[in-house]
Amino acid sequence: MAESVLFQPGRIGPVETTNRIVRAGTSETASGDGGEITDNLVEIYENLARNRVGLILSGHMFCHPRGRYATRQTGIHDDAMVPGLTRLTSAVHRHGGKVFAQLAHAGSQSRVPENRPLAPSPVPNALTGRMVEAATAVEIAEVIEAFAGGARRALRAGFDGVHIHAANGYLISEFSSALTNRREDEWGGTARARDRFVLEVLKAVRREVPAGMAVTVKLGLQDAVPGGMALDEGVRRGEALAAAGADAIEVSCNAMRLPSDSAWQSAQAAPCATCCFTACCRRLTLRLTSCLRRGSCASARGCRSSSWVGCACPRPWRRSSSVARRTSSRWRGPSSASPTWS
Ligand SMILES: Cc1cc2nc3c(=O)[nH]c(=O)nc-3n(C[C@H](O)[C@H](O)[C@H](O)COP(=O)(O)O)c2cc1C
Repeated sequence: MAESVLFQPGRIGPVETTNRIVRAGTSETASGDGGEITDNLVEIYENLARNRVGLILSGHMFCHPRGRYATRQTGIHDDAMVPGLTRLTSAVHRHGGKVFAQLAHAGSQSRVPENRPLAPSPVPNALTGRMVEAATAVEIAEVIEAFAGGARRALRAGFDGVHIHAANGYLISEFSSALTNRREDEWGGTARARDRFVLEVLKAVRREVPAGMAVTVKLGLQDAVPGGMALDEGVRRGEALAAAGADAIEVSCNAMRLPSDSAWQSAQAAPCATCCFTACCRRLTLRLTSCLRRGSCASARGCRSSSWVGCACPRPWRRSSSVARRTSSRWRGPSSASPTWS
């Protein structure tokens, strides 16, 4: 049987990977109290790379202290984080892997009680119920600059790319959805105005990194909250990001009511969304699936025509001595599908 395309080299913008197996962004919650990298985290990333995961998307890292999601979340908000982050990238590179830093701001979804989060508008968070104040124009500018600062530190620490978290109900998601963005200024009021925040973040991040580093976006295509952002708005936003220079888009859900919504959408709704999105923006879409969780790649609608596969659920990674080998024995996907990203 011909070797699956999953085991052939891939390319995301300027970055080449040895295969198309991706560890999807997974918050490890294993950092020190200040958000610094621990030995445990280095070991987790080194194990993934040693077991031939071609690309690791890091767990979301807060790029501003007010954007912290949880205690023990990794930070990329301060230069003091760079030495630890450098240990992480070195551990991955030792085994030929590639690693992107996921830059995030939790917005009103922050679960840190003493934090003073911000959001586009004072709307209770659909997942946590947390109410926050609307960001001022100055605070919005500060957050965009915080994403740029995160990108600068990712570059210094040796990451191969930067992955902007614009999904799953966090701050960028909140700017994207009319349910949570009730602003009437240049940041809200119309779908085009709601594009602005994520586009400004992309522009600011792009400015900080050289051409050899990938800049990708995890984009919420539709809200899991009834009456929320519809797919057509998310697809059009993805096209705008592609036109503005994103090297790839990972599709996901936008506002969530339950923590399981992101996995549910990737298993059920995202394949439909992705087909639609792929039709518009074929070269740029990464389809990460939930199918490995159930060990049934062959039956997962969404990944049949995919040429990359990702997994966040730790179970397959944990059980396997070699993720690539294990995936190989399960994968019944096409051996000749044209690569989505290259
Ligand atoms: C424990 C856990 C932590 C996660 N942390 C992140 C994260 O830090 N960043 C992110 O973009 N997505 C995160 N996700 C979402 C996953 O990347 C993925 O989109 C979703 O879980 C669906 O894929 P799966 O079925 O393979 O888990 C997380 C998912 C899980 C289960």
